[in-house]
Amino acid sequence: MAIRKVGVVGCGLMGSGIAQTCAQNGYDTVVLEVNQPLLDKGITRIHGAWVMMAGKGKLTSGQVDENHTRLHGTLAMEDFADCDLVIEVAIENMEAKLKLFPALDHVVKPAGLLVSNTSSLNVTQMGAVTKRPDKVCGLHFFNPAPVMKLVEIVKTISTSDETITTVRQFATSLDKTPVLSKDTAGFIVNFLLIPYLLAAIRMVENGMATCEDIDTAMKLGCGYPMGPFTLLDYVGLDTTMWAAEAIYNEYKDPLYAPPPLLRRMVISGMYGKKSGKGFYHYQ
Ligand code: 3HC
Repeated sequence: MAIRKVGVVGCGLMGSGIAQTCAQNGYDTVVLEVNQPLLDKGITRIHGAWVMMAGKGKLTSGQVDENHTRLHGTLAMEDFADCDLVIEVAIENMEAKLKLFPALDHVVKPAGLLVSNTSSLNVTQMGAVTKRPDKVCGLHFFNPAPVMKLVEIVKTISTSDETITTVRQFATSLDKTPVLSKDTAGFIVNFLLIPYLLAAIRMVENGMATCEDIDTAMKLGCGYPMGPFTLLDYVGLDTTMWAAEAIYNEYKDPLYAPPPLLRRMVISGMYGKKSGKGFYHYQ
């Protein structure tokens, strides 16, 4: 099946990055938000990225214009009716996703594929509340979505091989490198990344070293592009806590239990860069 038109549910940090990636790689892209201010904010972020890319000579002004014509914002899910593939990038909350997937199943044409950008929630369950579980899988992008080369394709016990083949081709057409994972909490990356991030938080809780020194150590000692605290702030402390909880709920392994400091920071609205305060302060 050829993918021509793509729907994206959610125009937050990840949703806008994914919509940007689809539109700039030639797909007609419709992005859905729950209200006009959030939609405007997300679309403005995408336009800003294209202006930045044009400024660096990565896009011509003609290509920026073409990208703009391929991108449409909407508040009506009905606009997904003729999409060949819809990427769900809504809040990481299973209850919300279990409402969203039947709604998408109702609206999107029967041949359309429904994929979730979830970082750790159960994709099988999302497929099970639709009448097309064979056409449901995970497609997990990494932040910043237009830049990071990896996507995880998550195959549930119901996903057909044909769906995986189509989604793999789609990912490659976005200039991404896909890896395949079973539908187990955390997939590949977060199964390994979350314990590392949580261990760094426990080191600070225990007074072993400062955030700054731990970040410097991992950047200069291991060649990581960001230390764990810069990355935690960048990904979002709330997002990290939800991912940790989802994996902990599946395995009950204390490695994945959110440390008390992380919980308290999230309760206090310290989400990282997006809220202006996390382990570091932002203007
Ligand atoms: N669109 C297009 N290009 C963009 C862009 C966008 N929205 N945002 C940034 N870029 C480009 C910049 O223009 C720049 O291009 P250039 O090198 O040609 O000038 C390039 O990306 C790098 O950006 P910067 O120069 O601003 O910054 P850095 O060189 O410091 O790199 C980084 C930033 C790519 C974020 C790097 O620090 C990095 O790789 N960090 C680690 C990120 C990471 O680990 N992400 C995964 C998180 S885990 C996750 O997402 C999973 C979730 O489930 C928790």
